Amino acid sequence: MTPVLSQLIRPEIADLEPYTPIVPLEVLAARLGLPVEQIVKLDANENPYGPAPAALEAIHRTATYHIYPDPEQTALRSALASYTGRPIEEILCGAGADELIDLVLRLIINPGDAIIDCPPTFGMYRFDAGICGGRVISVPRRADFSLDLPAIERAAAQGAKAIFLTAPNNPTGNPLPRTDLLRILELPILVVVDEAYVEFAEPDHAPIGASDLLDDYPNLVILRTFSKWAGLAGLRVGYGLFPRWLSEQLWKIKQPYNVSVAAQAAAVASLNAMTELRRRVQAIVAERERLFARLSEVACLTPFPSVANFILCRVNDRDAHELKLALERRGVLVRHYRTPLLDGYIRISVGTPDQTDTLLATIAEVVNE
Ligand SMILES: Cc1ncc(COP(=O)(O)O)c(C=O)c1O
Repeated sequence: MTPVLSQLIRPEIADLEPYTPIVPLEVLAARLGLPVEQIVKLDANENPYGPAPAALEAIHRTATYHIYPDPEQTALRSALASYTGRPIEEILCGAGADELIDLVLRLIINPGDAIIDCPPTFGMYRFDAGICGGRVISVPRRADFSLDLPAIERAAAQGAKAIFLTAPNNPTGNPLPRTDLLRILELPILVVVDEAYVEFAEPDHAPIGASDLLDDYPNLVILRTFSKWAGLAGLRVGYGLFPRWLSEQLWKIKQPYNVSVAAQAAAVASLNAMTELRRRVQAIVAERERLFARLSEVACLTPFPSVANFILCRVNDRDAHELKLALERRGVLVRHYRTPLLDGYIRISVGTPDQTDTLLATIAEVVNE
């Protein structure tokens, strides 16, 4: 591109590292020379049981795909109001929780404004802040992955506008203690609690997470998703619980048709299929405990306790990326991050019992190679 044209690009975007997209399953299967059905996909915290049959039926039954979706997501938001016990005015849906992270940041970040990020954690907060030209004040977690509260307080004093807290945290799987959250909520910043995995921490009832604090803390936002517990990652639907002063502004910048007709129908049907979906979540939680026990017996891995649907493992005495690649060549996908804080770790999503067995047999094969 000529220098003149490249100057059209906003400098904060030109300076941004490109996002590394995941390799689509079909492409990877072809590369490995394996049928797609043979791939054990434990790298993206997806739900191995897929959508509820009722969600698939709802998609099939819907006859309005030639009409734009309801921009106010009325049926879905009213179902979510019953599910969460929050007023409909405080609920807004997005094309995944990812879109809501982006919307919140676009609402509050001017170039040069700062957010607090507590790595290792989900990467989109940092990524989306960068797109807005925001600065990221990094407050790394302690060795046990707990939050460094004094450092967070110092970062807030530097004028950060918001903090993003993942609860349970991805990829470490640990919960956010209530005492930590209460202390952070006293800071004069927006506190976004990303509860993408909360259903796996509270598998026996509609999750509460931090939602019981919303009435007392006008600086609290909660983000959730249908991608994990409801198995709708491919449809892209999430929701947020916002204080009214914020939701009123978010409505102004949300794309009107951000959640598709199919996604809205499937999400409503999922909320109506709660008993079945909760049974699946409970099966995943039971499998998480079995997987943890079995991984603890593998000499080259140290798994960390998790209340989510994945387990982070430290890889001992060998290169974590090499281990990930060796598993991948055999059709088992786990996640490795090329970041200094996580270079020696892999994250394994909890799958079905059969997938756990294949994973463990494949690890044994690689280790004994
Ligand atoms: C912590 C966290 N938040 C949000 C998301 C994205 O959710 P969604 O699929 O709803 O965009 C993920 C996905 O992995 C996640 O791990």
